[in-house]
Amino acid sequence: MTESDFIPSGDYQVLPAGSVSYQSPSNIALVKYWGKYGEQLPQNPSISFTLSNCHTTTTLSYKKNSNSSGEIPFEIYLDGEAAPDFKPKIAKFFERIAIYMPFVKEYEYKIETSNSFPHSSGIASSASGMSALALCLMEMERGMEVAMTDTFFNEKASFLARLGSGSACRSIEGPLVVWGKHAEIEGSTNFYGTSYEGEIHEKFHNYQDTILLVDKGEKQVSSTVGHDLMHGHAFAKARFTQAHENLSSLMQVFKQGDVDQFIKIVESEALTLHAMMMTSHPYFILMKPKTLEIINEIWAYRNETSSKICFTLDAGANVHVLYPENEKESVQKFIASELSKFCQNSHYIDDCVGNGAKKL
Ligand code: DP6
Repeated sequence: MTESDFIPSGDYQVLPAGSVSYQSPSNIALVKYWGKYGEQLPQNPSISFTLSNCHTTTTLSYKKNSNSSGEIPFEIYLDGEAAPDFKPKIAKFFERIAIYMPFVKEYEYKIETSNSFPHSSGIASSASGMSALALCLMEMERGMEVAMTDTFFNEKASFLARLGSGSACRSIEGPLVVWGKHAEIEGSTNFYGTSYEGEIHEKFHNYQDTILLVDKGEKQVSSTVGHDLMHGHAFAKARFTQAHENLSSLMQVFKQGDVDQFIKIVESEALTLHAMMMTSHPYFILMKPKTLEIINEIWAYRNETSSKICFTLDAGANVHVLYPENEKESVQKFIASELSKFCQNSHYIDDCVGNGAKKL
């Protein structure tokens, strides 16, 4: 499927005023998306675990609008309170998707959203938020008696979510989602995320992710700016090649259940992501001293025990601690006793891999 396949050809039925709700999860990348081109297309393929407990719930209420010429009218609420800060990003999203969903201009909307994680946790809500909104809009499209398969529904929801925030396209399905063309993954595309269909050894079933909230503040440099700095970056070409290779290696790892190799790839990906930030122009650092202390503690614990614990990072100071389900008890004890002290207000969130978004 390419862009033109998502532009509808027939007419839509008018929908009476109504509402639809979706719960959509966050995701954590194992091979990172960092660098984009064109309209939200990734410079390299990425793969992520879909999460379970960290999610956004969005209710989209819609009503036919008589004036369909100008900007799309909408209100947005976070936890019941008007959230004007989100307006520019959503307005841009509506603008970008209008060609693929012409009906959006003919309705007015109320978007009510809430996150299962605290707003000021430093956990990005854009992946779960944009995917939830895209799914609600797809439900409207389906309600207009447009015939579509479930596969098309998911692919187009992911395609639209990508136009809101790149990583959001990996938040529709689970437990592992690939986004970006990769030579060895059939059906992989830069346009949307698809659930990874390769063999996954049971060691990777129900993997655990505890998110250590090191810094709950606003990031100094947004992901969008960071992605942009990959243009003309001295190491960009090598990095994009490396992502392809790491994804190839991970496919073997998933098949063979090679957790040691998993650790090497995933930790290297996290550090490479931050190395790209530190070597762009302008350069910047999103890790905090406590991020490094946590990493050192994780390495020490791994050396002292036979644990398969490892870490990854997103574009911020928080640390995602990844570990197999059979170590849940011991690792969670270790986190509570040794790592929670590095978190703001000792705050962390226990999560695990999940199966994707749900209609409510
Ligand atoms: C470091 O998806 O937040 O989390 O497309 O500009 O919205 P935009 O960026 P975003 O970038 C996420 C980058 C990352 C790595 C990843 O999730 O793959």
